[in-house]
Amino acid sequence: MKVLVIGSGGREHALGRQLSISPSLTRLFFLPGNTGTKSLGKNLDISPDNFDDIISLCKSEKIDLVVIGPEKPLVDGLADVLRKNSIAVFGPDASAAEIEAHKSFAKSLMKKYNIPSADYVEFDSTQLEMAAKYLESAKYPLVIKADGLAAGKGVIICSNINEADQTLEQLFVNRIFGSAGDKIIIEEFMEGEEASVFAITDGSDYICLPAAQDHKRIGDNDTGKNTGGMGAYAPAPLITNKLQLIVEEQIIAPTIKAMKDEGRIFVGCLYAGLMITSEGPKVVEFNCRFGDPETQAVLPLLEGDFLELLHSVAIGKLNKNAVAYSGGCAVCVVAASSGYPDAYQTGFEITGLTDSENIIVFHAGTKESEGKILTAGGRVLGVTSVIGQNDLARAKSIAYDALSKIYFEGIYYRTDIADRAIKKPNQI
Ligand code: AMP
Ligand code: GLY
Repeated sequence: MKVLVIGSGGREHALGRQLSISPSLTRLFFLPGNTGTKSLGKNLDISPDNFDDIISLCKSEKIDLVVIGPEKPLVDGLADVLRKNSIAVFGPDASAAEIEAHKSFAKSLMKKYNIPSADYVEFDSTQLEMAAKYLESAKYPLVIKADGLAAGKGVIICSNINEADQTLEQLFVNRIFGSAGDKIIIEEFMEGEEASVFAITDGSDYICLPAAQDHKRIGDNDTGKNTGGMGAYAPAPLITNKLQLIVEEQIIAPTIKAMKDEGRIFVGCLYAGLMITSEGPKVVEFNCRFGDPETQAVLPLLEGDFLELLHSVAIGKLNKNAVAYSGGCAVCVVAASSGYPDAYQTGFEITGLTDSENIIVFHAGTKESEGKILTAGGRVLGVTSVIGQNDLARAKSIAYDALSKIYFEGIYYRTDIADRAIKKPNQI
């Protein structure tokens, strides 16, 4: 089978690597891909926004499956266009991608179908005064969220009314998120620990991959700004077998059914960002795609035929036995450019990128120039250890050992990836 992967991050490198293990893969293309994906297939210099060129390419190369990594092309309707052209695609239509595109849609869906999540109210920019009045008598901390896509920055946790008032002004008056902030969600603050669960679904049936935990904040001990994710590990011991069943029964299965009942059949990876509270698991957010960096830790733990899994979904008949959890564990530590998630410099040479046992170095913001590999983004590499035993402490030490040999000017990474699980496994 010939496969085209859309995207250029660590997630797409991990998707490509897992697809390349499949015996039925004949050729792999990335659009646009990154330096790491070059060793797996052909990188194509076409923008993911250029739907016409993507369709022409799929036809001329006779692509059997398109796998869409990032949310933007999904929300913009790339999967719809591909399906209209009879090209098999892994990823939801725009109407189903709404679950990530508009938090107001996701929240109302969860309310309507009794899917556990934080209590909330919603205001639009014409209701500034009403929103300000609401904040006067609200309970703190609370969370203010831009309704639309805001590159992972649209969630602000406010500890008091002053912070909340300022946030309201930033969104509705200064319009820091543009039209993505024309509507806001004000949500109850949930106490607990987070986990990411990926459900692979053809719209009716599903399987869940091993649960992961992301590390969203830039600093150790979850301090500082939110980022796209600074590291991840899997499986997350927080999600015991018992809790996994509850998550599937109360969240995954009802959401997939709800989407179907709403006429928005979800085909692809439904990412549930969860808070495990004292009242049980609740949804923090849904995404319409694989998470990054979680994918870099989750996929290497799968045995079996990942291409068969994604293709079976794309043709509407999920093969639940295509892959299985191998029994090991993985720790992915993101090496970022100094300054990220704010401004950072690029173009620094990366050294020490040699393969070593139990290590996969996934590329994200890298580029090649005159035989050298240079930094080209905020999140540069995902250094991932994968071992056959479920021993996160060992996997963590292998990942950091590999990372200590890699260098570029301004290299920054958290030093505590997986510590939550290592320090207190099975706390639930
Ligand atoms: P999101 O972009 O929706 O994933 O939110 C970013 C991060 O904000 C989440 O990973 C949580 O750590 C935090 N967060 C979002 N909503 C809530 C909430 N209602 N209560 C507590 N933390 C939250
Ligand atoms: N790691 C968070 C995300 O992919 O949205």
